[in-house]
Amino acid sequence: MNNHQDNQERSSLHGQWSSRLTFILAVTGSAIGLGNIWKFPYIAGENGGGAFVLIYLVCIFIIGFPIMVSEIMLGRRGRRNPITSMKILGQEEQGNEAWKYVGLIGLMAGFIILSYYSVIAGWTLHYFKLSIFGELSNLDNETAQSIFGQLTASASTQLIYHTFFMLITIGIISKGIKDGLERSVKLMMPGLLLILIILLLYSVFQGDFMAGVNFLLIPDFSKVTPQSVLAAMGQAFFTLSLGMGCIVMYGAYLPKNESIIGTTTTIIFCDTMIALLAGMVIFPIVFQFGLKPTDGPGLIFLTLPLAFNEITGGYIFSGLFFILLAFAAITSALSLLEPSVAWMIENKSYSRTKSAFIIGLLIWSLGFLTIFSFNILSEFNFCEIRSCNDDWKGTLFDNFDHIASNIMLPLSGLLFTIFASWVMKRKHSMDELSDIPTSVYKLWRFSARYIAPIGVILVFLSAIGII
Ligand code: PFF
Repeated sequence: MNNHQDNQERSSLHGQWSSRLTFILAVTGSAIGLGNIWKFPYIAGENGGGAFVLIYLVCIFIIGFPIMVSEIMLGRRGRRNPITSMKILGQEEQGNEAWKYVGLIGLMAGFIILSYYSVIAGWTLHYFKLSIFGELSNLDNETAQSIFGQLTASASTQLIYHTFFMLITIGIISKGIKDGLERSVKLMMPGLLLILIILLLYSVFQGDFMAGVNFLLIPDFSKVTPQSVLAAMGQAFFTLSLGMGCIVMYGAYLPKNESIIGTTTTIIFCDTMIALLAGMVIFPIVFQFGLKPTDGPGLIFLTLPLAFNEITGGYIFSGLFFILLAFAAITSALSLLEPSVAWMIENKSYSRTKSAFIIGLLIWSLGFLTIFSFNILSEFNFCEIRSCNDDWKGTLFDNFDHIASNIMLPLSGLLFTIFASWVMKRKHSMDELSDIPTSVYKLWRFSARYIAPIGVILVFLSAIGII
């Protein structure tokens, strides 16, 4: 039996998406999350605004696009969790199973990311509660800072919400693809878009819109450092959920006749629009209320309550916003958990529920370190143990995010794309992309072989000071 027939016969052990739309919604649901609305504005704020945004957009299109196509392709050919898919494909294409380690780096990154992602998602749940109980009314800048400060200072409050968020995520994953994943994304994504548009209108009319937009769109290249370029690339990987294996995993549930390029284009377009939209909502409010764009992870929790405060019935909007943000976080968290759970089901023959609970418990425990990094361990940093550069000077949470987003995701994304474009036989990748004209296929292959890998490597080299 040749490889091609072999692949035709392979099917996922966990079922398939019921339609192209649900696949798009699930991947868009994975891509759109806290990364777009919480992380993008604060990272852009910390890295000088416009120039960062420009570099981020370049990374999305020339690095993110070919890598996302590669990852979906690998998943659909492997039809297993990312580790096993890479093992099978490595064996088929090259007689080498070592490619499974690429899947493993991805899964480990997912572990780390979900451990802190869940804590931040917990913050959104807490803000939802504050909104509906009217505790965010009559705010001024200082009260907003103090409410946020109280939350981060309290390990127990954060623990309660982190636990709650992990339980929801585990519960949905236990239900499987159709009843769990699909149902939740169909419900949650459209609502989020609607509320962002309402908020945009608010920013246009009430915020310092031009100051916000100028900050976001006018590049000041004097602010660009190799570190900010690395942060822009890391954010491109993070926001598109690349390098973690979750796109490989979701690709494994994609029916054979669906267009990979078509779906990727839609997903990337939606994700980028939402991030820019979030920036345009948040920065005008930042400037209007005299906050600082460099306020870090607390940025949306400081800005939005202040803005909502000014609208009549604002608490309804703010409740809606935070709950929808939590929904967006859930659809991303599902994609962070699913690959490890699928790995456990396929390799240990445990039930889906048992696997989800075991993996969920491990991730939940790791989340303690993020919680403590905002209070009892806030002074701790690695550079006290051994000397290190500025990248490592932040809190444990900053370090986790740096290792996972800026190092592990680009590294495994790079290896996924090298496999798809260099190791996989041309006829196999052509077979996966058979719906597009040869010229577009050639463009993908060229970008995946040269542009994306060279881009990632250059950014790495400049960040560690070699070029
Ligand atoms: N893309 C998600 C976001 O922007 O919030 C986060 C994420 C999900 C990162 C899945 C990585 C991942 F594999």
